[in-house]
Amino acid sequence: MKKIVCIVGTRPEAIKMAPVIHELRKDDGFRVTVLATGQHTDMLTQALSDFGLAPDENLNIMREAQTLDHITASVLQGVGGFLDSKPQDMILVHGDTSTTFAAALAGFYRHIPAGHVEAGLRSHDLSLPFPEEANRVLTDRLAELYFAPTEGDAENLRREGVAEGKIYVTGNTVIDALYWILGRKGESAVKIPEGRPLVLMTAHRRESWGRPLEEICGAVRDVISGRPDVVFLIPLHKNPVVREVIRDGLKDFPENVIFTEPLGYSEFVRAMNESVFILSDSGGVQEEASALDKPVLIMRSVSERPEAIEHGTGVLVGTERGNIREEALRILNEPEYLECVVGKNTRPFGNGEASVRIHEAVRRYFAEAGKP
Ligand code: UD1
Ligand code: UDP
Repeated sequence: MKKIVCIVGTRPEAIKMAPVIHELRKDDGFRVTVLATGQHTDMLTQALSDFGLAPDENLNIMREAQTLDHITASVLQGVGGFLDSKPQDMILVHGDTSTTFAAALAGFYRHIPAGHVEAGLRSHDLSLPFPEEANRVLTDRLAELYFAPTEGDAENLRREGVAEGKIYVTGNTVIDALYWILGRKGESAVKIPEGRPLVLMTAHRRESWGRPLEEICGAVRDVISGRPDVVFLIPLHKNPVVREVIRDGLKDFPENVIFTEPLGYSEFVRAMNESVFILSDSGGVQEEASALDKPVLIMRSVSERPEAIEHGTGVLVGTERGNIREEALRILNEPEYLECVVGKNTRPFGNGEASVRIHEAVRRYFAEAGKP
């Protein structure tokens, strides 16, 4: 029996690793452990529990307003300690967080092969998004198996010299997660006013702390004054650095802004579906929006998910107030513009079979390794 540990630290890792955990656990040949680093606390356990999962072990490293040094050093030590006490045949990490990179490094120091789920994404600017682009590049230097969501991501890896036989184009596991949750009935706690246009907004990126977040709030105020009927639903990220700025910037608009705590995945997906469009700097939301054919104004200057933009649902608007306002009002005021953005009915991030492909690749890896 092969021992595999799936290491997750933050909300998106939990959501995108959950289908892989479920898939691998169907296989009697594997013993699968879920190790939470606890880089996130409630946001992580909430996301896991949305998929009926809980950590087998939790390193609980989170501190209030934590530094990158703290996360990286404590994950490295914590995961290293776990791997020393419970040796594994493979580690699986996801994406681009500091948990991802530090966990991959802990595995590398012990010669344990790492599978990187969501490998190969590149903005080609090491500081955008920060520090995620660096985390991805560094993790991909250390990995043994690469699960690239798209052919473009696989091409990025080939250009960096990764051997063809180690790359698997799988689709993105977030689509598996999305289909999984769409098949279930969720409770709804948030009351959305009927008959008014809804805009769902999330923002949390480190490079947007400070001035860019203030610009974003300014743009929301402008949109409200241009379209007083609009309602913004804003599930606030738990990070105090982010939530205080947004709350403060929009506190005078109780008729137009609904603040909530982070939403459960099912409720968040429902909110995506019910919105006219989404305003976000999230990576996962760009992928989900493409599968829901929902426009998302991406509040970044560059995206490592060009497929979302080619698909038409993703529109890069940066973090400059005027740009965000213009694009948002255009979508709200010109229904014909909305029609040209959506409705291509292509699935750039796959059809929800990524975790099956990852399972197959892992199985094949061990089968090959066992040959004389
Ligand atoms: C982290 C990831 C980012 C990912 C994001 C997903 C890094 C450096 N950043 O950013 O790549 O896109 O998660 O959301 O890996 N907090 C809580 N409870 C929680 C979670 C966070 O209180 O459940 C607060 C804490 O004060 C914590 C702070 O938020 O110190 C920031 O958390 P952190 O993981 O450092 O950064 P994120 O912005 O969440
Ligand atoms: N999400 C959620 N509840 C929320 C906000 C987001 O379940 O209140 C989900 C969202 O559907 C996506 C993921 O969390 O799958 C994105 O997480 P986040 O924006 O924190 O990280 P990123 O994708 O930017 O790394």
